[in-house]
Amino acid sequence: MRVAVLASGGGTNLQALLDACREPAPAQIAVVVSNHAAAGALERARRAGVPAVALEDHRDAQAILAVLRRHRAELVVLAGYLKLLPAEVVHAFRDRIINIHPALLPSFCGKGMYGHHVHEAVLASGATLSGPTIHVVTAEYDRGPIVAQWPVPVSPDDTADTLAARVLAVEHQLLPAVVLAAARAGGVVRLLAAGSAFTVTADPARIVESAVPAGLIQSQEE
Ligand code: GRF
Repeated sequence: MRVAVLASGGGTNLQALLDACREPAPAQIAVVVSNHAAAGALERARRAGVPAVALEDHRDAQAILAVLRRHRAELVVLAGYLKLLPAEVVHAFRDRIINIHPALLPSFCGKGMYGHHVHEAVLASGATLSGPTIHVVTAEYDRGPIVAQWPVPVSPDDTADTLAARVLAVEHQLLPAVVLAAARAGGVVRLLAAGSAFTVTADPARIVESAVPAGLIQSQEE
C-alpha cells in the first residue's frame, strides 16, 4: 500500500512509519508533504530517500490532490499535520485518510487542541488516563470514526512535557500498527486491544514492547 504522510513539524511519527515501512513491509511511504518548507519531517523524508514536497498553499486542494495522485497514494496519514485538509481532498480520499491525536477522543479535541494545549487540557481536567487516538478524517474536526486508541496513565506529578513524551512513545507504536494493518487488509481497519494485553501500565517500554503490536487485533466487525 502506497502511503502519503502529511506533517507540519519534527516528524517523529513519520520516522516511526519510515522505520516500520521498510521492505518487505506491506506498506511503503510514497511521499511526505508539509505546509512548512523547513519542517523536520521533510528532512527525515529526504534522508530516507522518500520524495518530500512543501506546499505553497495548504488551502489549495488541487495542488494537494495532484501530489497525492502523482505519487499514487492509497492511504493518507496526518502525522502532526496542523492545517485543516481542504474538503475536496477529504472527499476524494474518503475513508482513506487517518489522523493521530495525542489524547483519548472524543475528549480534548477540536480547534486549537493540538500539541501542548491537548496535554495541558488533560492535566487541567484531572483525567487519570490519556493516550493516543487514531481516527478516520472526515469533514468535521477530530470527529471521524475511531480506528485505535491506547490508554496511557496520567501521573499526579506529570507536566505537559512528561505526559506528551509518554503518549508520544505509544504513538510511535500505534501508528505503524494501524498503517501496516491497513496495508494488509487493503483499507483502514479498526484495531482492538486483545484480552489481558489491554493493561494500563505506567511503563511505556512495557506497552511498547509487548502489548501494542501483539495485543492489537483486527476488529471482527470490519
Ligand atoms: C503528535 O503528538 C501527534 O499526535 C500530534 O502532533 C504530534 C506530532 O509529533 N498530532 P511529530 O511531528 O510526529 O513528532
